Amino acid sequence: MTVTDHELEAETERLFRALLHVDCEPGRTWNYDACRRLAPLTLEINRLKKEKDAVILTHSYVEPEIIYGVGDFKGDSYFLSLKAREAKAKMIVFAGVVFMGETAKILSPGATVVVPDRGSGCSLADSLTGDQLRQLKAAYPDAAVVCYINSTADVKAESDVCVTSGNVYDIVAALPQRRILFVPDRLMGENIRAELKRRGVDKEIITSDGTCIVHEEFTPADIVEARARFPGLKVVAHPECEPGVAALADFVGSTGAMMKYVKNTAAPYFLMLTECGLVGRLQVETPEKHFIGGCRLCPYMKLNTLEKVRDALAAPRPEQIVTLDEDLRRRALRSIERMFEMAGGTPIG
Ligand code: 13P
Ligand code: SF4
Repeated sequence: MTVTDHELEAETERLFRALLHVDCEPGRTWNYDACRRLAPLTLEINRLKKEKDAVILTHSYVEPEIIYGVGDFKGDSYFLSLKAREAKAKMIVFAGVVFMGETAKILSPGATVVVPDRGSGCSLADSLTGDQLRQLKAAYPDAAVVCYINSTADVKAESDVCVTSGNVYDIVAALPQRRILFVPDRLMGENIRAELKRRGVDKEIITSDGTCIVHEEFTPADIVEARARFPGLKVVAHPECEPGVAALADFVGSTGAMMKYVKNTAAPYFLMLTECGLVGRLQVETPEKHFIGGCRLCPYMKLNTLEKVRDALAAPRPEQIVTLDEDLRRRALRSIERMFEMAGGTPIG
């Protein structure tokens, strides 16, 4: 493809204007020169996207040049699942992690779903197999099985209902069973216990032992220290953090809800207890707000690059294409569709 100097200039300018305020990742800047280097790739990907009839879904944790350079939709797991389900395109490129690509394939089986890097796992999804869940179910036959969306298709297929960080409390509270087997996030399970107690809902929550390697690192001491240094600070946490962190935060919610909270809250400083990519998004969309340190990188999300997105679009290698056994897919679909039925409401991007 030949790109004219004018096209290159215009694309560099577009990227630079979007990414100008992003300063969320150690060792990376999105200055004019960096945008000039990214521009040929974003031009190529946006051209390929049309040629291949593809849509690019981007989770808020991936690099900002992917989200703002080539993404069609950006947001949290719930929002992106809805977008995957609605997609009419022949191809879905999921810039996120593998369980998200699998979820897109479950919801849009007719599309070719690709993930830029097959190694982009997730410590939560990788913590529990379908076999292990079957064993747990045998030990608690009367429990409703609730899986967090950060789980494999196998685990979803064994579950009664799937949840995301945006609807977990409401869905668990609404289930008729008193005993809930919640997998695979132990810390989110502890947060469910605390939240339901606060709401006066009587449930027994049994969990497996997965954790998110990013969110488990935040501690209550981080919050205490930051509050002492930054008066008026608002602390915003993800429900994958430990309950001691959730208890001290001003707001706890999905990445989409965290963004909405920051946009609607006046405060001198924010501490975001989540993956750094979300701070990048906020620096783009709320450049007037101030974020103090604290965020961490998800090594899996950061495996996504523009080069890999381009390759997955142009000629996907077999390992980049998500395939699922049809019976497994249908069983996994039931738990996700039950989530959509129970969640209602408007998704937050
Ligand atoms: P969200 O659905 O809140 O974006 O969470 C996804 C995730 O992986 C958080 O670590
Ligand atoms: Fe998984 Fe944690 Fe990365 Fe989210 S941030 S994808 S939960 S490892």
